[in-house]
Amino acid sequence: MSHLTIDYGGAKLDFDQDLKLGISSIDQQHEKLFRLATGMLEQIQGGANQTEIEVSVLELEAFVSEHLGFEEALMRKNKNPNLNSHILAHRRFQKDSAILREKVFVSDHLKACQIAQKMFDVLIEWLCNHILVVDRKSRRYMASNPDEINSRAPRIRLEGRALIEFSGKKGITGLLHDAGEQGLFIDFPPPLAKMDKSS
Ligand SMILES: [Fe+2]
Ligand SMILES: [Fe+2]
Repeated sequence: MSHLTIDYGGAKLDFDQDLKLGISSIDQQHEKLFRLATGMLEQIQGGANQTEIEVSVLELEAFVSEHLGFEEALMRKNKNPNLNSHILAHRRFQKDSAILREKVFVSDHLKACQIAQKMFDVLIEWLCNHILVVDRKSRRYMASNPDEINSRAPRIRLEGRALIEFSGKKGITGLLHDAGEQGLFIDFPPPLAKMDKSS
């Protein structure tokens, strides 16, 4: 299968390097989601008719539900303390996605193409963000058994500028997400841009 790269907020993510969680069943499903979405986009760009677009949209939506249900069952079984908020994130996305799907079905062909492309954009952005932050946080609860989790080499990847400042007991300056045993995410430039103005 060809190498999978994903455009995410102007950056190129490498699926193997950046998005794999180290749990084969979950990684395979995430990869399939990206490939289904990319396939739908290629189909639209290749001049798919209304029926073909509708079938792709339904296929994608069905697999999204299958995947989210799969994750939820595992996290329920493994007693994830963050289960409710994780499920809420899934439901919010499913609701937004269902609204777009309904629009595809009641629109003319040209408009349906535009909405399906929007579905693609929304899915890619949500999926990348969700995998990197929410799924990653629940990683240890998404394996059928502890042996299924592969450890990963530590990675660091920065684009733009980051300021990580240790000063007395002040800790790290910046907007942090998911600072846990798996690592941490720092959001920038917004907090740094603000700091630049005041300094
Ligand atoms: Fe997921
Ligand atoms: Fe998830």
